[in-house]
Amino acid sequence: MTATGQPVALSTKALVAGYERDLPIVRGVDFSIRSGELVIVLGPNGAGKSTFVKAVAGLVPIHSGATFLGDRDITSVPAHEKIRHGLAFVPQTENIFATLSINDNLLLAANILPKEKRSRRIADLYAMFPDLASRPSLRAGQLSGGQRQMLAVARALIVEPSVLILDEPSAGLSPKIVSEVFSKLKAINETGVTIILVEQNVKAALAIADRAVILVEGLLRHEGPAATLADDPIVAELYLGARHQSKAVAS
Ligand SMILES: Nc1ncnc2c1ncn2[C@@H]1O[C@H](COP(=O)(O)OP(=O)(O)O)[C@@H](O)[C@H]1O
Ligand SMILES: [Mg+2]
Repeated sequence: MTATGQPVALSTKALVAGYERDLPIVRGVDFSIRSGELVIVLGPNGAGKSTFVKAVAGLVPIHSGATFLGDRDITSVPAHEKIRHGLAFVPQTENIFATLSINDNLLLAANILPKEKRSRRIADLYAMFPDLASRPSLRAGQLSGGQRQMLAVARALIVEPSVLILDEPSAGLSPKIVSEVFSKLKAINETGVTIILVEQNVKAALAIADRAVILVEGLLRHEGPAATLADDPIVAELYLGARHQSKAVAS
């Protein structure tokens, strides 16, 4: 699907954010994603990728600038309200309750919905994730890494978000499982959900993305279509660091 001409789904304007007032980590980011797009956020370790998406989700203090969901200014909307407005976030860690069953994980996530919608929505998600549907009473902690990520994604999708943000869902997964997780994310994107994906698995992520942005030291340093960025030496230079450049370009 092409997102060109689609309305902007989410944007940030001169966003400055960080954990302490006098120490901005995100240092003035203008970002936007169109409805239906899948954009990956790349950048070296410590660049501020997680801080950026957490600030957008309302989980890290915003010092100045603004965030918008469509035309709505959501800068000071609390995190749990942002979810109601259609912005879902899957953090990198602690994104499921390991001691609870799959079904209880979904039930808890569904609490945000009006009562009459809950069971219907959980049924929709089971249809979307047959691996979860086949054993609803299994403890989430017993799932494989890839299936845990799928449960985390299912929990986030419960509110039928317009924008889904994921922070490194492929961390710690084998290449085969990474490609399964990414295929599922692509399929979700193709149902119309706008996706912002923070990733270290550059090659696999570029393969499913429309566009990539590269964050370095809290600033957006580069952006472009995923198809051309895959072969762009600037990706190697900015993302992997110059000393890895030749290896990255060759791979
Ligand atoms: N909870 C926190 N409290 C204070 N500083 C943090 C916290 N989390 C991350 N940082 C700092 O913010 C900077 C950016 O980190 P992060 O956003 O996690 O980068 P990335 O996700 O790109 O690896 C780092 O210098 C890190 O030390
Ligand atoms: Mg991170």
